[in-house]
Amino acid sequence: AGKSTVAKAVARELGFSCLDTGAMYRAVAWRALQDGVPFDDDEALGRLARAHDIAFAHEEGEPVPRRVSIGGIDVTDAIRTAEIDRAVSPVSAAPAVREALLDQQRRIGNAGDYVVEGRDIGTTVFPEAPVKVFLTASAEERAHRRVRQNVDRGVGSVDYDEVLTDIRRRDDQDSSRATSPLRPADDAVRLDSTGRYIEEVIEDICALAREKFAYEVKKLIGAYAAVMGGVDAIIFTAGVGENDALERMQIASGLEYMGVKMDEDANNVRGEERVISATDSKVKVLLIPTNEELMIAMDTASLVG
Ligand code: DC
Repeated sequence: AGKSTVAKAVARELGFSCLDTGAMYRAVAWRALQDGVPFDDDEALGRLARAHDIAFAHEEGEPVPRRVSIGGIDVTDAIRTAEIDRAVSPVSAAPAVREALLDQQRRIGNAGDYVVEGRDIGTTVFPEAPVKVFLTASAEERAHRRVRQNVDRGVGSVDYDEVLTDIRRRDDQDSSRATSPLRPADDAVRLDSTGRYIEEVIEDICALAREKFAYEVKKLIGAYAAVMGGVDAIIFTAGVGENDALERMQIASGLEYMGVKMDEDANNVRGEERVISATDSKVKVLLIPTNEELMIAMDTASLVG
């Protein structure tokens, strides 16, 4: 296991959802194979990617999805075969496919707090993400991990040299292709997982995220405290104006926790401002909308898992 395990674990620990963009390219590759679409036909591949919605299914109360479907067909297991491993490189290199999936990825990622994992997330898909991680491991280490995984799953090559050659070939393809080549964003934090326990890597990323969010919140508190003369509490809400019912509920429960009744003012928080003050005679509350603020773009080298 590797990058998607890391992404999911970080999401769980922070209470985020998680988007595996590689699975989306794999789903399109699967559909292209089914339909016999040639891998060098950019236009036909793009049409196919636009025609079929990719959906991730969550279990009740579980923010990290377990299943993926394309055009309503569940392909969770079907996209993990060696055949798809081979097909996905040319399919993901097709500019029309990338464009079609870019829209779908932004739509999904903007709907909440996400860890988004893939090759071009910090550079292309979510260049505004406040936390960007570029996760790498040596080709040799990834080959070891992949062989172990293939042994466990009972599919794919278990020949170390063959797997290593394949990893090197795909790295070259992914980093030299014209559209969205694999490269770190200028403001990405580089993490090398070679020789480290996965738990340590997960902790490092969570720490980065917490540090960044704490810093942002402190900045906001500083700015608003100056205006409001200090704050008694901070309430994290949904994006302001985007989901009024949910937001009112969060505000109400935050105030109730403090033993304060919500007044009309607090009931009517709304507006363009990203941070709004809700005050009554007793408390000063800082409302911070969490949408978009809490996005982690995780860029990963190929084939870690
Ligand atoms: O992460 P993965 O192995 O499931 O990704 C499958 C393929 O999709 C891989 O060859 C690279 C490609 N990919 C991409 O080009 N851009 C992304 N954001 C994610 C994956």
